[in-house]
Amino acid sequence: MIYLDSAATALWRPPQVVQAAAEAMCALGSASRGVHGGSLAANRTVYAAREKLAAFFGCPRPDHVIFTCNATEALNIAISGLFRPGDHVISTDLEHNSVLRPLYRLEREGGVPVDFVPADRLGRLDYGAFARLLRPETRAIVCTHASNLTGELVDIPRIGQFARDRGLLLVVDAAQTAGVFPLHMEKMGIDVLCFTGHKGLMGPQGTGGLCVRPGVEIRPWKVGGTGIQTYSPTQPEAYPTRLEAGTLNGHGIAGLSAALDFLAEKGIDSIRTRERALMERFYLGVRDLPEVEIYGDFSRERAAIVSLNLGEEDAGAVADALYQDYGIAVRAGGHCAPRMHRALGTGERGAVRFSFSWVNTPEEVDAAIRALEELSR
Ligand code: ALA
Repeated sequence: MIYLDSAATALWRPPQVVQAAAEAMCALGSASRGVHGGSLAANRTVYAAREKLAAFFGCPRPDHVIFTCNATEALNIAISGLFRPGDHVISTDLEHNSVLRPLYRLEREGGVPVDFVPADRLGRLDYGAFARLLRPETRAIVCTHASNLTGELVDIPRIGQFARDRGLLLVVDAAQTAGVFPLHMEKMGIDVLCFTGHKGLMGPQGTGGLCVRPGVEIRPWKVGGTGIQTYSPTQPEAYPTRLEAGTLNGHGIAGLSAALDFLAEKGIDSIRTRERALMERFYLGVRDLPEVEIYGDFSRERAAIVSLNLGEEDAGAVADALYQDYGIAVRAGGHCAPRMHRALGTGERGAVRFSFSWVNTPEEVDAAIRALEELSR
C-alpha cells in the first residue's frame, strides 16, 4: 500500500514508540493512584511527557499540559469550559467539526454566539474580518493552525498579536501541524493549544491534550476519580488534575514521550522540508492533467496536503479506484470540514485528499501521479 493519508493519522511510527508503549503495558500502574513501584513508574512517565510537551510547545508550566485521548476531546474541554452566556466567539471557515460542533452546541445551548471569518474560493482567510467581527463582548478566537482539507496554513502569530492587543483568548487547534510546524505558545500569543498525538507527533492513537497558559481558567468537562482529595465532592482545582478525571492512558503517553524524543533528534525542520518537497512534486505532476481541479493556494507555505476532484467523477469512486487498482490510500468525502467545502465550492460533493508524510518516497508520489494520469483519461 502507498499510504497518502497521513492527515488522518500517521501509519509509520518510530520503532522506539512501539517499544515504549509495549514496555509500558507490562510495567506501568495507574499514575497518581498509589506509592508502589508501578504507580510511581506511571507518574514519572506521565510527568516526563508533560515536561517534553511543555518544552516542545512553549507552554510555561508542565503541570498545565493536560492529557486527553485526542484533539477533539481537548477542543471540547476548552470550548465547553471557557465561556459564559453572553460571551461572543470568533472562529473561521477553515475549522474541522471538532471545533465547529462544540461551537455550534455552545451557541445553541450556552448562549454564546459565534461568528466565522470567511475563506475565499482558494480557502484563504480574510484576515481583515477578525476586526470587523469584533464585538464588545468578544472573549476569544478559536482557530485551526492549518486546514485539514487544503493544507492552508493560518498566520497564528498575526492572530495572536490581534488577540493580545484586544485582551482576547486565542485557542488553537494544532491537530494538523503539531510535530511538523513550529508552535510556541508564549511567542505566538496562544492561550490554549490543543493537539493530537497520532498525526505529526507520531505517537499512538488515543493520545492528545491541551496546554493551558497559566491564569486561564477552564471549567472541568468531566469530573471523577483523581487519586487526590477523595473526600471532596468537587473536582480538585489545580491543573492538571482539574481536567483529568479517570485513569490516564499511561501506555499511550509512554509511546508519545518516546515520539517526542525521536522528533527532538530528527528535528521538525527536516521533516517539514521533506514533506513540502513531496507535496510540491505531486502538485506539479498533477496540476496540468486534464479534468483535475485542485483546491487551495500553492504559492505560499502550507501543510503537505493536496485535495482535488477529477471532472464530475464522484470523489469516493476516485478514492476506491486509487486503492483497488493502484494500492494508493487517500481520503475522500467531506473530511469533517463542511464550511471549508462550501467556501471552495465543493459543497456536498467533497474532494479526494492526498496527504504526505516525510516517510513517503518520491517513487510513491510518482506512482500516485501516474495513477491520476490514467484515471484522468
Ligand atoms: N481529522 C482527520 C482528517 O482530517 C481525521 O482526516
